Amino acid sequence: MSSARRAAAEAWAFRARVEQEAALRFDRLAEVVASFDPDSPVPAMMRRAADDERRHTELCARLAGRLGNPVVLDRDAAVAAIAPRSLDERKAALYEVVAACCITETESMATLTTLLASEQDPEVREVLHAISRDEVVHSRMGWAHLSRESVAAEVAFLGPLVPGMLAGTIDAGLFGAPPADEDPEGLLRLGVLSLSKKRAVFLGTLEQVVFPGLEKFGVDPEPGRRWLAHAAGLR
Ligand SMILES: [Fe+2]
Ligand SMILES: [Fe+2]
Repeated sequence: MSSARRAAAEAWAFRARVEQEAALRFDRLAEVVASFDPDSPVPAMMRRAADDERRHTELCARLAGRLGNPVVLDRDAAVAAIAPRSLDERKAALYEVVAACCITETESMATLTTLLASEQDPEVREVLHAISRDEVVHSRMGWAHLSRESVAAEVAFLGPLVPGMLAGTIDAGLFGAPPADEDPEGLLRLGVLSLSKKRAVFLGTLEQVVFPGLEKFGVDPEPGRRWLAHAAGLR
């Protein structure tokens, strides 16, 4: 098996697990948000998003299998709460929504858009298209929740917590060296960005979309910026 195919099969298997986790997270968050903000349109969006993520899980798992890495998904998987324990339920929900939607879904959208600007094998491209249509909406529901909370409650506490969200978002190797046998062109055809492109998309999206969005709703992006500069060795 070529190095690109092996790496892409692993990446799609990893995505399948991330999608499954997202489905569970959105189901749970829909209930929590509805409990303190019954008039919010966000819980209904989250329930639809959870269904989307279950579809994405199947699509990613099937593709991983076709590329030679069959995924066995744990049907009883549970998803860990990611917010610091010191936060009350409402603040913890906001933390989780911002991390999962405003950051992760926005990054995912940017990755998919970048990928779709190049050519892929047809079956890969079909999956990328199907997923990207939904992730736009998932990102939006995060901003919708942050916007509501910025009016109804206090959101400034999030500023110093953004570094923790970013640390939880990135994969360990993002700021390291690429594998010696990395084949950027081959990866791209199979729907995966090379490490240097992945890094560029990640940083660019934070700077152009995520940080300005947080700032607009009253969350100070500076702690996140400083953490990032340090992590990326940009200082
Ligand atoms: Fe998804
Ligand atoms: Fe999503």
